[in-house]
Amino acid sequence: MADEREEVRSRIDIVELVGREVSLTQRGKDWKGLCPFHQDRNPSFTVNRQTGRYKCWSCGEAGDIFTWVEKRQNVDFVEALRILAKEAGVTLTNRGDSTPPSVRQAQEEVMAEALSFFREHLGKNSVAREYCERRGLNQEILDTWEMGYAPEGGGALAVHLKKKGFQLADCKNLFLVDADSFGGYYDKFKGRLIFPIRDEKGALVAFGGRLLGDGQPKYINSSDTPLYRKSRVLYGMNRARNHFGKAKRAVLVEGYLDVIACHRAGVETALASLGTSLSEDHAKLLKRWVEEVVILYDSDPAGQKAADRAVGILTAEGLRVRVALMPEGEDPDTLLRNAGPAAVQQAVETGLSPMDYKMQALMLKEDASSQEFWIHAVQILAEAPTEMDLDRHIVHLAGILPGIPDVMQAQKSLRREVNKIRRAVSQKKEALTPTAFDHKQMQGKLSPAELVIFLAFLSTEFRVSGWMFSRTKELFATPLAIRISDAVSTVFALGAPEGEPARWLHKIQDEELRQILADLLLDLRANNLTEQYIADTVERLRQQQQKRKLAEFRKGGLDTAKRQEILMRLRELNPDTLKKQQDDDNLFN
Ligand code: UTP
Ligand code: MN
Repeated sequence: MADEREEVRSRIDIVELVGREVSLTQRGKDWKGLCPFHQDRNPSFTVNRQTGRYKCWSCGEAGDIFTWVEKRQNVDFVEALRILAKEAGVTLTNRGDSTPPSVRQAQEEVMAEALSFFREHLGKNSVAREYCERRGLNQEILDTWEMGYAPEGGGALAVHLKKKGFQLADCKNLFLVDADSFGGYYDKFKGRLIFPIRDEKGALVAFGGRLLGDGQPKYINSSDTPLYRKSRVLYGMNRARNHFGKAKRAVLVEGYLDVIACHRAGVETALASLGTSLSEDHAKLLKRWVEEVVILYDSDPAGQKAADRAVGILTAEGLRVRVALMPEGEDPDTLLRNAGPAAVQQAVETGLSPMDYKMQALMLKEDASSQEFWIHAVQILAEAPTEMDLDRHIVHLAGILPGIPDVMQAQKSLRREVNKIRRAVSQKKEALTPTAFDHKQMQGKLSPAELVIFLAFLSTEFRVSGWMFSRTKELFATPLAIRISDAVSTVFALGAPEGEPARWLHKIQDEELRQILADLLLDLRANNLTEQYIADTVERLRQQQQKRKLAEFRKGGLDTAKRQEILMRLRELNPDTLKKQQDDDNLFN
C-alpha cells in the first residue's frame, strides 16, 4: 500500500542509508560524496534528506531509498520495500504497489462523502451552530470554508460510510475511522467542529476538528494518509493562491481560525501549517507561489518562538520575510473580534524585517536601562544582515545607551561590542567546522613524496595502487602518513584495499583522516601522475628512509636488538647501498 511505502520512507533516513556505503560530507543542504555508480573522481553524488533523494550530477543516476536498495542489492521494488520495511519496523499488509487510479478515486469518494456527512450534521446541530455564531462564523463563512460538525456518540460516520458501501478498513487509512478491539470501527472525530483541508489544487485531502468547548486536545488533525502529507499542505492555500497578486506576498498564521479571520478582514492571502510546525517543504511550496511572507503568529512566547523558527526556514528558501508584531495576547482571530478588520490589515502592513522585529520585541520586553537589554541588543546588532541595518540600529541605540552622554562615543562603544561578538563567532565557527583550508594544512604535514603516494593510491587509474600501498607504507615517515596507513591497515587486515575509494573510504573510522583522504581525492595534482613518476617517488621514499635509518645507526647508543632490526630494514631497503656503506666506513664495528 502506498501509505506503508510512505511510512517506511518517513522512518528511513536516506543520508544514513546511503552513508553506509558512501562516505558523505555535508555541503549546505546536500550531502556529497563519490558516486558509487560510476568511476567518480570528484564528489558529484548528492543526497538530500529533505527530498529523500540522491542524484549524481555526473552520470545522472538518481532515485530514493527504494531505488537505492534496488540498485545496490540488485533486487526488485517489492523486495526493496520488504527489506526497508523490516528495518523500519513497518508491517506490510500487501505487496506495496503504488496506488492505482481506481483506488485514488475511491479514496476521493470517501472523503467527499465524509464532508457531506459533516456538513449535513452542522446544519442539524443547534449547539454547534450556536458555537459558530458566538465565534462570528456566519452562514456565508461556514459555506465558504465548507465547515461541518462531527456528531458525538462516535459511530455515526462509520455507520454512514458502511451503508454507502465503503470498506471501513480503507476509511481507516484516511483518518476517518479507527478499528476497535472487537473488529468494529469508531469515528475519529467526535463532537467537533470540522475544518476540511484542501491542498493547493483544491483536492480534499484531510480534516481537522475543534472541540466546541474547553478540553483536550483542543484540535485533532488528520495524520499523514495516502492523500495527505501534512508537511506539504498549507490550510487556505487553494484560496490564497488567487490573491497573491503583484506583491507576491503571503501571510502565514498559526491556525484554522486565524486563516478564516484574516480572510474576513480582507487579508485573503493567509494560510497556515496545521498541527505541525512550518516545514522546509511548506517553505518550498510557498516559494513556488510568492516572494515574500509576512508571519502573523500569536504574540505569546510560543508564537514568538515559532516565528523565529519560521524566519529561519523561510529565509533559507530564499523568501523575503516580515514579522508582524501583534498586540499582547492577541491572535488574528481575537484581533479581528476586538479591534476590527483594519487592525488586522495594519498588523500585516507594518510587518517588520526580522532584525527590526527582534529589536522591537526586545524593547517591549526589557527596559533599556537594564543590562539584560544591552546584552541582547548587541547580540541582535551582531547578527545584522547588512551594514546598513547595523548602522541604522546603532544610531538609534546610541541615543539611549546609559552612561555615555556623547552620542558619537556611544556609537563607537556599541560598534566595539559588536565587533567583539562577531570575532568570537567567526573564531568559534572556524573551530567547529573543519574547513577545507584546515585539511590543506594537514596535507602539508605529509612529505611531498608521501603526498604523491597517497594521490596515486586514491586514484582509480592506477590498478596496482593497493599493492603499491601495502609495499610503500613501511616507508612513510611523517606522523600523519603513518596514521593514515595504520587506519587503512586496520580496516583491511589482509592488505591494502583495491578498487574505487568510494567503496571503502567510509570504512575509515577516524573522521579527520577520512576527510583528509576525501580531500586528496579532489586534488587535481593526481591528474599529472604517471606510472614512472610514481615508481620514482617510491624510490625516493626508499632512499629517504634509508638515510634516516643510517643516521639512526650513526647516532649510536642503540642496543643490539635495535641494531639488528635496523640492519634488517636497511638490507630490505637496498642491499647494494648497504654493502657499499659497510665497505666505505666500516660503520658497524
Ligand atoms: P491555538 O491554540 O492558537 O488555537 O492553535 P486557535 O487557532 O487560536 O483556535 P481557538 O481560537 O482557540 O479556537 C493554533 C493552531 O495550532 C493547532 C491548530 O492548527 C490550531 O489552529 N493546534 C492547536 C493543534 O493542532 N492542536 C491543539 O490542540 C491546539
Ligand atoms: Mn490562536
